[in-house]
Amino acid sequence: AGTLEMSIKMVLYFVHERAWDRVNFGKKALPSGVIWLTGLSGSGKTTIAEALAKEMRRQGFRVDWLDGDVTRNILPQTGFSKKERDAHVLKAGFIAKTLENNGIFAIASYISPYRETRDRVRAMCRNFIEVHVATPLDTCEERDVKGLYAKARRGEIRQFTGIDDPYEAPKQPEMVVDTRRESVDQAVTRILRCVKQL
Ligand code: PPS
Ligand code: MG
Repeated sequence: AGTLEMSIKMVLYFVHERAWDRVNFGKKALPSGVIWLTGLSGSGKTTIAEALAKEMRRQGFRVDWLDGDVTRNILPQTGFSKKERDAHVLKAGFIAKTLENNGIFAIASYISPYRETRDRVRAMCRNFIEVHVATPLDTCEERDVKGLYAKARRGEIRQFTGIDDPYEAPKQPEMVVDTRRESVDQAVTRILRCVKQL
């Protein structure tokens, strides 16, 4: 980089920290970020994440997808107490921000029920798009794709989110998806619009 280029970058840095990353003098920047899907069990996080990953890859983005059910099977002793959920979400957040720092879009689908913990992940990332998959509890329970709500109601599963464990909805998510009113494709299209504004 020439001296002029460096000087302009330094000035920009003081104008706004992020402007530094945006100026590339003709070199194509790799867009990257973290798309964090939060919501109740059975709200549609996994389905949307999978479709989003597929569409983004088709459009040439570098994408990786982290899903709660998958990382739970890899990380041992991950239960559903607040402590364990928080640790799980923070580990996923750490992986996501590492991917982001390496030019990849990380899509993460986690119940991640605690607002403060999600905000800690947000603070680790540069481009953070929080998507609240806001399918209401009664709809999730009606669908009960995995039969877990029935089990939770019978008391066979304890600490089940929405039944006997909390879910703190985001206050200012970048996007809200209600799968009762919006198809998977529509949700993906809207998330992509958000991604392209980064
Ligand atoms: S968290 O809170 O973010 O750590 O949860 P996550 O890693 O996303 O895991 C959620 C999946 O675990 C299954 N499951 C439960 N969910 C909530 N509460 C309890 N007690 C529970 N027990 C098992 C369930 O299949 C969740 O998957 P999704 O895709 O969210 O339905
Ligand atoms: Mg899932």
